[in-house]
Amino acid sequence: MIKYVIKGGRPLDGEVTVSGAKNAALAVIAASALVGDVTRIENIPKIIDVTLMLEIMRELGARVRLVNDSTVEIDSTNVVNTSASYDAMRKIRGSYYFIGALLGRFGHAVVAMPGGCNLGVRPIDQHIKGFEALGATVEVKSGFIHVTANNGRLQGAHIYFDVITVGATINVMIAASLAEGLTVIENAAKEPHVVDAANFLNSMGANITGAGTDVIKIRGVDRLHGGTYSIIPDQIEAGTYIAATAAAGGTVLIKNVIPKHLECITAKFNEIGLEFTEYDDALLVSRTKPLQKTNVKTLPYPGFPTDMQPQTTAALCLAEGTSVVTEGIYDNRFKYVEELKRMGAKVQVDGKVAVIEGVESFSGARIRACDLRAGAALVVAALSANGTSEIIGVHHIERGYENMVEKVRCLGGDIKCVEEPDSDELSDVG
Ligand code: EPU
Repeated sequence: MIKYVIKGGRPLDGEVTVSGAKNAALAVIAASALVGDVTRIENIPKIIDVTLMLEIMRELGARVRLVNDSTVEIDSTNVVNTSASYDAMRKIRGSYYFIGALLGRFGHAVVAMPGGCNLGVRPIDQHIKGFEALGATVEVKSGFIHVTANNGRLQGAHIYFDVITVGATINVMIAASLAEGLTVIENAAKEPHVVDAANFLNSMGANITGAGTDVIKIRGVDRLHGGTYSIIPDQIEAGTYIAATAAAGGTVLIKNVIPKHLECITAKFNEIGLEFTEYDDALLVSRTKPLQKTNVKTLPYPGFPTDMQPQTTAALCLAEGTSVVTEGIYDNRFKYVEELKRMGAKVQVDGKVAVIEGVESFSGARIRACDLRAGAALVVAALSANGTSEIIGVHHIERGYENMVEKVRCLGGDIKCVEEPDSDELSDVG
């Protein structure tokens, strides 16, 4: 087991290059199973979740070749297996995209119910509603979801989602790409990775319009073809370095970003007191004054992202005055607050609302990451803290952040990754 040891109190200064977007990469990898040809995917982040998705691809019969650190070639021509094992699937939520890919291509899929960060109830009823509308029968048996197209091939349909869901929007888009006729998704999610998944599918021959708006139209095609695609930069990784700069202070040039995707984050951090200079594909962030209180509510894109909520809460613990953070997506995404309290934070959580009374500083402590973004929030807090912090449970962080330790070090942060053989802490699934 490894832990991060962070000596806090040093401002961050320098440059950091953001990797490819985790949640776009997971969708694109699974969607490549639909293609039935060779896809070369560039700007893939080197993270555990990507490794797990590629393992599932191999298990399904694809040939997967790492071309270099950030490029992978997937030949899904010989994918024959339409069922994926429990062990691989339960570890990662993004594995639900294999349902759409296998169903769309073969008219049949058997996939273990997906895992992922424990953020409260995370149903997949909207995915199921979408597949059923496309003419599939869905059964959940012994932890597996069995999906079969009634006529062998999915049929285009009109689908209105009851909630805005990234996962179901992408999954239905994937499955409907090879369906017969037109599919219309209403109340679709608009996140950058929804658009990225649509762009990937289109570059492989699909016919999808409207991604990035709340109505997406997918005209089914008979086949897709291989090609090369580059994943967008990770909006949330960039946002995490913004939050870290807010907490620790300093000036950081964040490279390889799409500034438009970051506006929902920079607008809020600007209110809190950070200054930004925008370049074509980079963002300069600096903290020149004390942080100010604010109110934040997480919402679907272009609202403030839930995946930035914990890191933002950590920064707001150091803002003057009382801030209120409301979680608008998940039921239970404040578990990490108990760890921040151990570092001296003053936060009261009532259901989906956290009331934060700003303190001067955090003090270093031994703390535990309970999920991916919770872990990122603890890094943000520890970088600014007086004294040394030890973060355990960092496998959660490494599920979604490429080389965080090296990247923070390049910014002057005092962080190291240390083996801890005798720890008896829980090691739960992400
Ligand atoms: N929901 C339903 N029914 C469904 C699907 C979703 O009720 O069938 C609800 C969820 O319970 C949640 C809301 O709708 O309250 C939004 O869920 P969504 O489907 O958008 O989330 P997801 O696909 O499960 C992805 C990301 C999450 C990110 C959310 C929201 C992946 C693999 N995961 O999850 O990423 O928080 O979208 O943007 O893409 C993370 O990266 O830390 C992370 C948790």
